[in-house]
Parts: sequence; C-alpha cells; structure tokens
Amino acid sequence: MESHLYTIKALGNAIANRDSETGEHNYRVTYFSLCLAEQLHLSSQSIQSLVKGAFLHDIGKIGIRDNILLKPSSLSNDEFTIMKTHVEQGVRIVNDIPWLQDSIDVIRFHHERYDGSGYPLGIAGQQIPIIARVFAVADVFDALISERPYKHAISYNDAIKTLKQNSQGFDPLVLSSFLEISELEYNTIITMEKNELEMHLIGKLSNYFEV
Ligand SMILES: [Fe+2]
Repeated sequence: MESHLYTIKALGNAIANRDSETGEHNYRVTYFSLCLAEQLHLSSQSIQSLVKGAFLHDIGKIGIRDNILLKPSSLSNDEFTIMKTHVEQGVRIVNDIPWLQDSIDVIRFHHERYDGSGYPLGIAGQQIPIIARVFAVADVFDALISERPYKHAISYNDAIKTLKQNSQGFDPLVLSSFLEISELEYNTIITMEKNELEMHLIGKLSNYFEV
C-alpha cells in the first residue's frame, strides 16, 4: 500500500499544482476529512476510501482548460457548465483502476449538497454517500480559508460563520461533529509549511495505510 499512497498523493498534487499554486489544499482537505471521519467513528475501510477520494477529488480538472480553470473572476453560466464536468471526467480517470474504485464515491459526489442544491445529480440527504458528506464539509471549509485566483482567504471565525449560514447544504451530524474539532485542527495545521503539513498528515495516515 505504501507505493499506492504515494501514487495517490502525486496524482492529487498534479492537479492541485495546476489549480491552486500548491498542493496544500489537497493536504489540508485530506487532513480535515480524516479528523472529521475519526470524530464520526467511521470504519477504517471508509476512512481509507475517504482519504483516497480526498487526494483525488478534483483530478478531473486536468481536463478543464486554463482559461476556465484559472479565470481570476467568476465564471459565466457556460463556463460553469464546463467546470462542472470535472466530476465526470474525474470518475472516468479512476474508473479503470481497480485499487482506486473506492475513491469514486468522493470524486462523483463531492459537489452534491445535503439539501439537493449540488451537482451534477442534485441528489440529497442519505442518497449522498457518507464519505462524500464528510468530504463536502472539509472541502468547503478549506476553500473558505484558502486564497484562490478569484478570492481572498477569510478568517477562521468568518469561515465557521459561513458554514453555519449555509448549513442546509451539509449533513447536520457531520457539520456539528466538524464544529467540535475545527478550531483545534485549524490551529494545529494553519501555520505549518507544506513539508511539515505533509509529514503531519502522513503520520496520521500511518494508522490506515502502510507508509
Ligand atoms: Fe471539485
């Protein structure tokens, strides 16, 4: 499994580097997902699938043109329609790789929302696999605290306020569990350099993967 974990990490970083200047989002979102899954007492098997999916969630963005992927302002409706295809493109990329099959739940459903307002299917509630519901909270939180080409990072308190204001999009149990751990885990990793964060994450992953 050792080589697999490093392959997943490398694949995830390949797109993260193109999209958001560093792989830190991928590490942070995987870290927050993992901490949240532990708080929810998900099985080791579910956590392994979640971690693989977290690293690879946006792998389909490899197929999105730079003028859309890196656009420094909001996307037009047509551009957003193209951007949304990163979900299906991601599923297609991992579909033929047997040991990545269990990452597909996160890749396919990471933009679905608990109230049915997400994409591409608009499914809701328990129809969305639990690991995708966990990932969604971690992903939105990390997006809020991250600098992106089209937006500035916001503070921890403002990010939590925004999550609460948009709580209908998230599984209530998952969101409340995240709020129990978010401040501690945010403070743990937010000042870490990329290498330190990677080491810290790999340390936690050693409970689930051979590293
Ligand atoms: Fe995505």
